[in-house]
Amino acid sequence: MAEALRLLIHGASGRMGQALLRLVAEDERFAAPLAVSRRQPLERVSQGAAYFAASELDAVPAFDVLLDFSLPEGFDAALALVRERGKPLVSGTTGLSGAQQAALREAAGEIPVLWASNFSIGVALLQQLVRKAASALPGWDCDIIEMHHTQKQDAPSGTALSLGAAAEKGGAAPHYAAIRAGDIVGEHWVQFAGTGERIELVHRATNRDIFARGALQAALWLAEKPAGCYALSDLLSLR
Ligand SMILES: NC(=O)c1ccc[n+]([C@@H]2O[C@H](COP(=O)([O-])OP(=O)(O)OC[C@H]3O[C@@H](n4cnc5c(N)ncnc54)[C@H](OP(=O)(O)O)[C@@H]3O)[C@@H](O)[C@H]2O)c1
Repeated sequence: MAEALRLLIHGASGRMGQALLRLVAEDERFAAPLAVSRRQPLERVSQGAAYFAASELDAVPAFDVLLDFSLPEGFDAALALVRERGKPLVSGTTGLSGAQQAALREAAGEIPVLWASNFSIGVALLQQLVRKAASALPGWDCDIIEMHHTQKQDAPSGTALSLGAAAEKGGAAPHYAAIRAGDIVGEHWVQFAGTGERIELVHRATNRDIFARGALQAALWLAEKPAGCYALSDLLSLR
């Protein structure tokens, strides 16, 4: 078996960071991680992870891959660290500015980077299926319907928009509809309608851990890759 991967989890005290730490602790493919949050940690070592504040980032010990699920204001320091150490970066931080996205692309000349707005492996596959369906079905109507819990503010969801972008790449002109109801974690339903027939492609998320699991899969995969800008869909081996 390959050596256990040493992760640095940036944004460790957040919802995603906590899910990542929980899953890493029960997975022998990973060594005890480094955990960085904006604020000073209450304890230096807890449940196998070594904790640091963002102000101490330059002094953290060696790691193999940095997993960043922080906020845009923390992103630049994480990117600077991986460039300095020559290590891969997996980031799911959303709301990055144009300058931050450009810096990420520039860094890909030196190190492997993989950024995704949605780390669900199922959604990555759905994007590819939608693009294929759109290019195979010229002239068919394409509709994307998404359902989420009532707390979600934005509509259509970022995932619906990325599915729409995949449909557009295949030549379709998608329409969107959003439903906000109950505690639905997330459903995305893409329909292609022709004359006398319809195709429906559906993804249902039932647990938020899917994002953490996808990010961990991406970290294991990216650790072996040369410098470059990768996408989650690169993990899928479609024939
Ligand atoms: N791509 C995906 O699949 C996916 C899925 C879910 C969420 N996200 C994104 O992932 C990010 C985190 O989400 P979340 O729900 O976990 O957020 P959250 O609960 O608000 O946690 C944010 C984390 O970032 C840390 N942080 C804030 N400012 C920082 C700084 N300047 N330097 C270093 N760390 C800093 C916070 O530390 P303190 O607690 O010390 O402030 C906290 O650990 C968001 O951008 C969210 O949109 C992406």
